[in-house]
Amino acid sequence: MHALIYLSNISQPLDQDDVIEIATKASIKNKRIGVTGFLSSRDAQFIQYLEGESETVMELIKTIENDPRHDLQHTIHLRDQPFRHFANWSMRLITSDDESRIYPDDTLISVIQDIASSDYEPEIIDAQIYTIINRISRILYMPRYDSGNQKII
Ligand SMILES: Cc1cc2nc3c(=O)[nH]c(=O)nc-3n(C[C@H](O)[C@H](O)[C@H](O)COP(=O)(O)O)c2cc1C
Repeated sequence: MHALIYLSNISQPLDQDDVIEIATKASIKNKRIGVTGFLSSRDAQFIQYLEGESETVMELIKTIENDPRHDLQHTIHLRDQPFRHFANWSMRLITSDDESRIYPDDTLISVIQDIASSDYEPEIIDAQIYTIINRISRILYMPRYDSGNQKII
């Protein structure tokens, strides 16, 4: 199992509907090729996390990299992952509501920038990203309740 996370700059105006369309189409294709993960867009940047079979993920990231809608800045590869963190999501679009729960500040962006531009040992990079992804997946999978104590699906 191979995973990767990247940060990209959005290179053309995209509204919320465009982002939803990217995630919806991605989800359909990912289901077919066995890729799971999440996509988040904020402040004219995308953060995407992908996981799947190594060859499939490497091929997909080449396609995504050539997509003119964004410019990839930093990509961090995580090799030999023991399991999927987002097994149920062929591409989970992170909503603004999710965002306030998973990144209360710019932690993830700064960690990606910091890690990608320094020469940490691969084990340290893996461990740092793993910890963050693990935390995000736990938060996203946590059941939520509305004010009437009804579970939000
Ligand atoms: C930010 C971003 C994320 C994307 N994520 C995916 C993805 O997870 N899976 C996918 O198949 N395509 C994704 N795409 C679309 C690909 O770049 C490309 O358009 C698509 O895979 C082409 O599909 P096709 O080979 O069936 O024509 C993404 C595009 C952008 C801009």
